[in-house]
Amino acid sequence: MTPDPPSSETVRVDWDLLRTTADEMAAHAYAPYSGLRVGAAGLCSDGRIVRGCNVENASYGVTLCAECGLVSDLAASGGGRLVALSVTAGDGRPLAPCGRCRQLLVEHGDPTFLLDAGRDASPVTLSALLPGAFDSEELALRRDRP
Ligand code: THU
Repeated sequence: MTPDPPSSETVRVDWDLLRTTADEMAAHAYAPYSGLRVGAAGLCSDGRIVRGCNVENASYGVTLCAECGLVSDLAASGGGRLVALSVTAGDGRPLAPCGRCRQLLVEHGDPTFLLDAGRDASPVTLSALLPGAFDSEELALRRDRP
């Protein structure tokens, strides 16, 4: 029998490590316009850690959020799914992902995905992060219709 793939239910999530790594990544951010340095660190289904930081642009709308970099790192370093994520502004405290990044996390999150909500709060599930999300299943159901 094939064993179940790792998930946030079977892999121990080291939240302190994710927060520290997110803080370290925030120090690498390129944020000359907003001044808000954001870092993200995620635990993958195979146990590796992926990371990202925000990279702004003089054309503001082109800005890449920290989660964009993290998802790129996920794909570039072997793929798989995210089982846990911490996003901070370098202070160890959770920063709320923007709407576009919630959509990215729905695409690449494991069904058991958990987002850090801080030391004193329960982590946020994928369905709570983006209720009623448009996802690949919805697309498959609708795209062949006239
Ligand atoms: N930012 C992120 O990196 N992730 C989010 O989910 C929210 C916003 C960045 C983008 C921009 O560089 C700065 O925060 C201010 O909006």
